[in-house]
Amino acid sequence: MAATVLHLAKLISESTGTINETCTTSGIAVPELDEPFDPASEAWRQQPGVQLAIDQAISAAHQLIATLQPAPLSVLRLGGAYHTAATRVAFESNAATIIKEAGGNGVHVDDIASKAQVDSKKLVRVLRYLASHHVFKEVEPDVFANNRISSCFEIGKSFSDISCNPIDKYEGTSGITALFGHMLDECAKSGVYTWEALSDPKTAFSEETEDAPLSRAFGKQAAFWDWVEEPEQVNRLARFGVAMRAWQNTLPADAMLHGFDWKSLTENDLLVDVAGGLGNAVLPIAKVNPSVRIIIQDRPAVIEDGVKYWKEEYPEALQSGRVKLESRDLFAVQPIKTASIFLLRRILHDWSDNIMHYVCADPTLSGPQVVPGWEGVRREDPPPPLLPNWGVVGAGTYGSDIHMMILHNSQERTLTHLSKLFESTGWRMVRVYPDVTNLMPQIEAVPI
Ligand SMILES: C[S@@+](CC[C@H](N)C(=O)[O-])C[C@H]1O[C@@H](n2cnc3c(N)ncnc32)[C@H](O)[C@@H]1O
Repeated sequence: MAATVLHLAKLISESTGTINETCTTSGIAVPELDEPFDPASEAWRQQPGVQLAIDQAISAAHQLIATLQPAPLSVLRLGGAYHTAATRVAFESNAATIIKEAGGNGVHVDDIASKAQVDSKKLVRVLRYLASHHVFKEVEPDVFANNRISSCFEIGKSFSDISCNPIDKYEGTSGITALFGHMLDECAKSGVYTWEALSDPKTAFSEETEDAPLSRAFGKQAAFWDWVEEPEQVNRLARFGVAMRAWQNTLPADAMLHGFDWKSLTENDLLVDVAGGLGNAVLPIAKVNPSVRIIIQDRPAVIEDGVKYWKEEYPEALQSGRVKLESRDLFAVQPIKTASIFLLRRILHDWSDNIMHYVCADPTLSGPQVVPGWEGVRREDPPPPLLPNWGVVGAGTYGSDIHMMILHNSQERTLTHLSKLFESTGWRMVRVYPDVTNLMPQIEAVPI
């Protein structure tokens, strides 16, 4: 009996049928893999029911592969070193940009290699490995063209621009390629030391930031935030700054407004964006609410960049003094005692529970509460035999969790975990704001 295999194939068949029917009816094409990526061609995903069908097809297809593939081969493929090695070489050599600039139907690997100043005999092996995984297309032996996936490697600048400006090459971009660079470099290098950090008795049970796998990979016992500001990390710091904007750019411009009623704040209210980076979380709030006063706190170097950012994005708010940016160490005593709201966006996941206690302080415990909105962030159950959490399509947050472990010795948290952390530091979760456009919903907590 191959009942499970047939069941999975049926789920794929049903969901791809739904995609085809919906897109055909609305006259929207599903882009082919051979075409370069174009954000405008993503409209098909927004058709009613299509995203759910995509998730079902992908989840079932992965489960089918896991079922059919010899198990030892699955383990070997999980090893991942080949993927990371090949992807980084293709990305850093700017092969996709070279191919695009050459025009035509493909470029011989000798020409790509000569421009990228690498050995063509090595590059061809990398590109062929990737082409076998649907990244690039080998249109004839040793001749490569871009496809939908490889075209995403393009930074969006000319090859000569990129080569002449290695530090600032990502500046002015959406940040997604800077994020690729960050993942393929410091994250991948640190990731391979995760077992050493988790098994060495000196670090195995540590929750200190400095004991993250990152420290082993780069031979420096330092928190990511200190390490990345060292003079020899100048390229990585510039890249990381742009990469952080990628998260912002994957969300609608007004994403911060999907949640707490920011418009309800008045000129008597002070909003403090703690470790707010450049302050791009509060920029839409400042624009939609011309009264509320805002202070953005972060490390001195980030605050310098933040002032430049606000001068470009919303100079009036800075000039009037309504928005201020101030250097402040997150772990020092909070000098502002009169804030209406402390905003912590994408901050808690950068530190372990023990460390977050310094930030939130004042332990008190109380019983569990019913929190409005909590159930709203649960996604509907998938059909069996798919995994209850939707398998690979639901695994993004687990990946992000491991990312936090590798770089910061910290973690992502479930709502239950966050609620306990809040309660143990004197805060109570009172509302969750479900938002289908955002994996990280806004959560409101009040002092106990
Ligand atoms: C993941 S970023 C989030 C930034 C911002 N909240 C946002 O959502 O865009 C983490 C921020 O924490 C800041 N940070 C790290 N260590 C800090 C410290 N000791 N004191 C103040 N800020 C710190 C970093 O500079 C960075 O801007």
